[in-house]
Parts: sequence; structure tokens; C-alpha cells
Amino acid sequence: MANDKVSIHGAWASRWVFILAATGSAVGLGNIWKFPYMTGLYGGGAFVAMYLVCIALVGLPIMLAETLIGRRGRQSPVNSMRSLAKESGGSRYWSVAAVIGMVAALLILSFYSVVAGWSLDYIIGMGQGNFSGISAEGAGAAFGGLTDNPWRLTLWHTLFMLGTGFVIAKGVVAGLERSLRIMMPMLFVLLLILLVYSFTTGHFMQGFHFLFHFDPSKVQGGILAAMGHAFFTLSVGVGSIMVYGSYMPKKSSIGATVLTVGLLDTLVALTAGLALFPIVFAAGLEPGGGPGLMFVTLPIAFGNVAFGQVMGLVFFVLVTLAAWSSSISMLEPAVAYFVERTGRSRTAVTSMLAVFCWVVGMGTVLSFNIGADAKFFVFANDGFHLFQWGAEGGKNFFEGIDYLTSRILLPIGGLAFAMFAGWVMTRDSVRDELSIKSPLLFNMALWLIRVVAPIGVLIVFVAELTK
Ligand code: PHE
Repeated sequence: MANDKVSIHGAWASRWVFILAATGSAVGLGNIWKFPYMTGLYGGGAFVAMYLVCIALVGLPIMLAETLIGRRGRQSPVNSMRSLAKESGGSRYWSVAAVIGMVAALLILSFYSVVAGWSLDYIIGMGQGNFSGISAEGAGAAFGGLTDNPWRLTLWHTLFMLGTGFVIAKGVVAGLERSLRIMMPMLFVLLLILLVYSFTTGHFMQGFHFLFHFDPSKVQGGILAAMGHAFFTLSVGVGSIMVYGSYMPKKSSIGATVLTVGLLDTLVALTAGLALFPIVFAAGLEPGGGPGLMFVTLPIAFGNVAFGQVMGLVFFVLVTLAAWSSSISMLEPAVAYFVERTGRSRTAVTSMLAVFCWVVGMGTVLSFNIGADAKFFVFANDGFHLFQWGAEGGKNFFEGIDYLTSRILLPIGGLAFAMFAGWVMTRDSVRDELSIKSPLLFNMALWLIRVVAPIGVLIVFVAELTK
């Protein structure tokens, strides 16, 4: 049965636009901010190795599953899953997975916008030359001065959220497609400039060694983090890729397309690592700097080398663009769903959802200053507390949302999407969507979706529980 349905929200001009959009979604703060600092925290090469395995065996099959569900369903993730479940006689409750994903995407957007706001602040700072000749203490104080100030954080968070809502409200073709066509090529050029620059620091090999030196003793600690990050960085498990798949033209091969997106995303993460760590080492700093890595260590480096200010400016523009093209994909599944459900305009729905994410994001804003003592997920001597004010351990609001989404909701969503494509949808409809000619390749793809990816997610979950 040919699938010639079209989404009411619009359609990409070609499969290349899907690649652009999905890559825009995948490449973001995850690659440029999170990947380097997590690699620093979890032991360099061991983390990178785990991450690559998770991308190949779990992330990519789930991306394949999401894309094919979206393109077959041609609606928002929730309604696509609901109608496909009906078509194949499965339970309509499968769509709950898409609801969870949709909520997870909004939660991610809430903190993402705050961090993207930091890079807006740094564009201005670099532009004004504030970091020129700065010391390590000075850079730490500059970052602290930003995160301690709820008003400044709120201003940038608000601006970034407005920018995200603006593109989304304009629609799939006039908003998303048009801006992605400009943003993505710029992003790649900026990244290359940065890489070339890191060659000149004289510490390139040290950075390279840090990223690729495999120390097996460090694998255990980072495995769940690596799995969570594989989901996060590929944007899978929330329906972002699914909704983009629903705008994909029907005559294009999903397999090659998804592989391209996965490769580009991995390439950008590794390039970002290769570009950043030499700069970190050149400045004599430690790579395990946590979330502040990019905002503390890089300005020091940029502040103390020739053309550093310009490079710094380039860098933070790059980060902002990458974050922007990702943030729109977090909002789109919910916007598509509520437009379908309520029949209201995109603008009205976008405004409501953006306000929701903005409000939740204020929790992250405050978690860096006056709300730093509000702790969630506290494992204390007297047992587990979901929330406790002033607890020693536990996670602040920002860390809590990051943990809840990356480590729990995304893997659950991804597991359900893979199971749905693998076991609920009929083999024929999957074959029709994937249109892989070789029976061997088709069976391999199906096997990855049905068995390998779900087992991978489960193993990591169990490993974490029994740790
Ligand atoms: N993949 C994005 C990044 O790496 C984050 C993201 C997660 C985007 C989930 C959409 C959905 O920054």
C-alpha cells in the first residue's frame, strides 16, 4: 500500500531538508556544551567509546523507528502512533509513549533555553572585549556573576524562548525550513574555523589523546550517562525526529537519510571535542569542569590568544545557532499535536507552550542562585526523598530535570518507539516505509529495531539499578 498522505502542517521540499532539519535538531548544546563536559567528567576516551556504541546500536535504530513511524503516520507523534496502532490492531495506549516524549521535549526546552541564554550573554561579552587578557579567577567570577543574577538569566532565557517561538509560529516551511537553510551551513563553517584554530594552539595531540585514549577501568561509571547522552544528542525518544519524519517526502530512503544525520551529529560532537580540549589544555585547565566548562575555560583561552576575541564571538554565535535549531524541534511535536487537537492557530498554540516552557525554565534560572538549595531525588541515610530543601546530596532543579529527561524519560520513550515500529506495526508497512531493497539489509535493520536497541536500553537500566 503506497503511503501518499500529507501532513496538514506542511512538508519539506526534499529529503535534504529533512537531513538539514534532523541534523539541526540533533546538533546542539548536546554536542558543543554537554558532550565535552561529560567526556571530561566521565574519563575521556572510555566515555567516548561507550557513547559511540550506544549511538550505533541503540540511537540510530531508534531514530530509524521514529522516522518511519512519523512518515507513515503523517501527524503529530501522539496522533501518528494512535492511528498506526489502530491500523495494525495494536493498543491505542502506545500513544502514551508519544505523550511522555512530548512532555520530555518541553522539559528539555525549559532548561535548554536558559543555557542557550548564557551563550547570548557571552556573545555580548566577547563583542565588548570583556574577556581580553582575563585570568582563571576572572573568568570564573564572570560566569558566577552571570549565574548568580536571576534577572540577567531571565532576560536571556526570555529572549531565546521568544526566538524559538517565533520560528515555530511561522510554520514548517516559512519558519523552520527557511531558517534552517541559513543556520546549518553557517554552523558548519564556524565549527571548521574553530577546529583550524585549535590546531594552532600547540596542544592538539593532548586533546586528541584525551578524547580517544581508552581506559577500561573508567567504563562502568559512565555507561548510563553515555546511553542517556546518546538519546539526547540524537534527539531521539521524544518525538522530535518523528515529527520531522512526518514532513518528509514519501519517495526517499529513510535508512541512508538517518545514517547521514547520525554521522553528522557524531562528527560535530567529536569535532567540538577536538576543537575545545586543546584550547582547555593550552590554557592549563582541567577538562572535568562540569557544566561551566565551556563558559569558564573557553573565555580564558579566547581572552589570552591572538584573535581570541573574534574567535570567541564566532564560537558563541555558533553555540546559539546550534541551540536554536534544536530548540525548535523540541517545541514542534507539542505544537503539531495541539494544533491538531484544538484546531487553533500555530501562533496561539506556540505562544501557550512557549509560556509553559518559560515558566518551568524559571526553575532552572533560580537553581543557580536563590533556589540552589531546593534539592530533588535525594538519597539520604533516612531513605529517598523526591524533594528536600537544603539537602546535602540530591540534584538542584536544573540537574533534576536533566536527569529525569536524559536518564529516564528519553530511554523509556525510545524503547517504546522501537518496540512499536518493530512489533506493533506490520512488517509490510515497515518494509514499505523503509524501502530497503536488499532483504538482508532490511532484516538487519528490523533486527536492530526489534531486538538490539530495546535490549540495549534494558541492560543499561538494569546495570544502573544494580550498581
Ligand atoms: N539533540 C539536541 C542536542 O544535542 C537536544 C535535543 C534533545 C533536541 C531532544 C531535541 C530533542 O543539543
